[in-house]
Amino acid sequence: MTNEAQSRLPRHVAIIMDGNGRWAKKRLMPRAAGHVAGVSTVRMIVRAANDIGLKNLTLYAFSSENWKRPVTEVSHLMTLFRAYVRDDVTELVRNNARLRFIGNRSRASADILALMEESERRTEANTGLNLTLAFDYGSQEEIVAAARELALAAARGELNPDDITKELFAARLSTAGTPDPDLVIRTSGEYRLSNFLLWQSAYAEFLFVDKLWPDFTREDFLNAVNSYARRERRFGAVVEETVA
Ligand code: FPP
Repeated sequence: MTNEAQSRLPRHVAIIMDGNGRWAKKRLMPRAAGHVAGVSTVRMIVRAANDIGLKNLTLYAFSSENWKRPVTEVSHLMTLFRAYVRDDVTELVRNNARLRFIGNRSRASADILALMEESERRTEANTGLNLTLAFDYGSQEEIVAAARELALAAARGELNPDDITKELFAARLSTAGTPDPDLVIRTSGEYRLSNFLLWQSAYAEFLFVDKLWPDFTREDFLNAVNSYARRERRFGAVVEETVA
């Protein structure tokens, strides 16, 4: 990739991986098979992100609402998540990638929690791709937690409410330190954000693709990144026309 192409890469791509269940249903297979296929796509997209030198990739692995699914499905998703974190961390280390998790950790099982902490520790000094898995994540909960922390600090007299700025607020979110997503992709033809990175996506470009997550390919991902590079981003400002 040329330097020019590299400089036009989004700094951060976030993906809502949707459609595993429908993918399985179309094939008359159990939903679990769709999630298994979904993990293969995760692996392939992480490799692609690493290959092109993307700095930040965030994947919505499990939402705080996903606990409402049938117990057997939740338990299968946990098994897949556990296996992914356990098995793929070696490759992430080899590729100088960093793995982090955002979301609520209080409901994770002890072994998953331990795996999360260990893989974060093992990869924390890595400087390549920063892979964030959103696990038991809900953006509204995250925003409320940040507001609560600031309110408590103000109540303790440590903070003047007049000093609360966007930056101060963002620093209390779980994504603090990571640039906001430039590009948010959702698969499966649904046009929703589903409580994902609401604050952080204020200026993101959105790409909704019809393909179901297990059908999403490396080429689809590269096309999405390239289509972003071609879009003009203005952040609410007017881009000055150059006078010929
Ligand atoms: C949506 O499909 C998918 C999820 C519940 C989250 C994505 C999970 C994976 C890809 C597997 C585990 C993740 C990792 C990182 C190892 P859906 O079941 O909502 O599909 P549907 O809308 O067609 O029912």
